[in-house]
Amino acid sequence: MTDPNATATLRREMVDICRRMNSSGINQGTAGNLSVRTESGFLITPSSMPYDTMTPDDLVEMDFDGTYVGRRPSSEWRFHRDILKNRTDIAVVLHCHSMYATTLACHHRTIPSFHYMTGVAGGNTIRCADYATFGTQALSDHALKALDGRSACLLGQHGQISLGKTLEQALWLAIEVETLSRMYVQVLTLGEPPILPDEEMERVIAQMKRMSYGLGPEAEGSNDVARPRQA
Ligand code: 13P
Repeated sequence: MTDPNATATLRREMVDICRRMNSSGINQGTAGNLSVRTESGFLITPSSMPYDTMTPDDLVEMDFDGTYVGRRPSSEWRFHRDILKNRTDIAVVLHCHSMYATTLACHHRTIPSFHYMTGVAGGNTIRCADYATFGTQALSDHALKALDGRSACLLGQHGQISLGKTLEQALWLAIEVETLSRMYVQVLTLGEPPILPDEEMERVIAQMKRMSYGLGPEAEGSNDVARPRQA
């Protein structure tokens, strides 16, 4: 049985994250969408509704068979559904049209390991998915492929997708992807940068996993030698 209090809290948290997408500058207007896995399916933002007027009741309850209760769901419900169905390691899908990630996506640029932070998405690149019309199954198929073994990707001539176990983690990653994209665009003004070798990126990714890098001081992880002082 789904706990109604937990669902009400989740709906409020989703509205808060949507508003923070806009206030952090990674999204604007009615672009972008957000979904979270629930016991029976997932909750997703309604289509074409500005986040500053959206309320918790406006979020749409969807099943994996594509049926829904409430308002018309995001036009991108297919990729939200397919990612949540295939990626049992995550619970949140966040999509936005952040400026620099979209700049790279318009050139179909994959982000290489020009900086070690490329590893935050789980690999030595952040891939750019092939273009397909928004809202289509083809776009969902391309996104799933680009996300293979990764927790973020760019969408050709469209935007970016970031995944997380939690809402905070998905928002954090989307902002990191945007920051990295901005750095890459800036770096490219001086020419093609050197790329960190795959062996180094393997070390970076292992280190990030061990330290729960970027997930806050409470997240499980080890800093090797740093440890809490005994009283
Ligand atoms: P929705 O308002 O339907 O979620 O569409 C916004 C969008 O970003 C489409 O890719």
